[in-house]
Amino acid sequence: MEAIARAHTNIALIKYWGKRNSQLFLPTNSSLSITLDHFYTETKVQFSDQFEKDSLLLDGSQATDKEIVKITAFLNHVRNLAGTKTFAKVTSVNHVPTAAGFASSASGYAALATAASKALQLDLTGTELSALARQGSGSASRSIFGGFVEWHKGENEAGTDSFATQILDEKAWNVSVLSVVVEAGPKSVSSRDGMQRTVETSPFYDGWLATVEEDLKLMKEAINDRDFTKLGEIAEANALKMHATTLGAKPPFLYWQSATLDVMQKVMELRQQGLEAYFTIDAGPNVKVLCEPENEEMIKEKLAALSSVRDVIVCHPGPGIQYLSDWN
Ligand code: PMV
Repeated sequence: MEAIARAHTNIALIKYWGKRNSQLFLPTNSSLSITLDHFYTETKVQFSDQFEKDSLLLDGSQATDKEIVKITAFLNHVRNLAGTKTFAKVTSVNHVPTAAGFASSASGYAALATAASKALQLDLTGTELSALARQGSGSASRSIFGGFVEWHKGENEAGTDSFATQILDEKAWNVSVLSVVVEAGPKSVSSRDGMQRTVETSPFYDGWLATVEEDLKLMKEAINDRDFTKLGEIAEANALKMHATTLGAKPPFLYWQSATLDVMQKVMELRQQGLEAYFTIDAGPNVKVLCEPENEEMIKEKLAALSSVRDVIVCHPGPGIQYLSDWN
């Protein structure tokens, strides 16, 4: 009744931004991401009749009550599938710079879904695991697979067709994703609250919805053609559009800090100088910079030289979930 799994984080090139059903984590739009080789979560799940409640040890510390509530809600989905009420002990280690505000919910819930379902001997397919992980954190649905991944929003209201599939595996096309960790304070609005507020109050949200499926179509063409320029241009524009919706929310909010803008401006400047790079930003101040592998060292050096940049970690497309036999 125990299993260990590893899942990597991902960065969206076409963002998931907004739910049509928050209970089931059904998105308003399909999204597309690259799974990253450098950052991952390893999670061990043990079910036992001896436990009186669920527990979570996260990076060596006991989780807060709020975190336990979320984990229990998620484990209930897995227990329902297996027809059991047994509680679980979850031990999770993030190999992600979490302190720097890097999102680990995608790798976290993908690893948890994988380990928990295996521990209960549920023999789930990749797409079933993806639909399960989705119910912990939407972006986790994409971390089940490696390489380039699309999360299909799905049509039905039960959510059975809202899962991710792989477009290209991690070896098919090597692009570089520089993870730029900036000097910044903690973020004040979670992605969950931020997207909800935007959907409910931002007049710009309609503009997002009107154009995101076209962005996705063009992005898939770029990937199919291995057209890096097109990939970068669409990813950057899509990220800017997502962040623009937050400015129209009531009350308005912004994930960028001054250090975020320093990196964005540097990337635009490099491009003007003929060094091709594009940025994308999730629900926080850090920036991911896309470039081709032959330019990654040069661009890394230029970004690391900014005083507001704390670290630059070079990533590439990484693998999907793995089952581990031992705890490292
Ligand atoms: O699934 P969450 O709550 O981690 O939301 C992810 C939202 C974004 O990172 C902004 C976009 C995305 O598609 O990953």
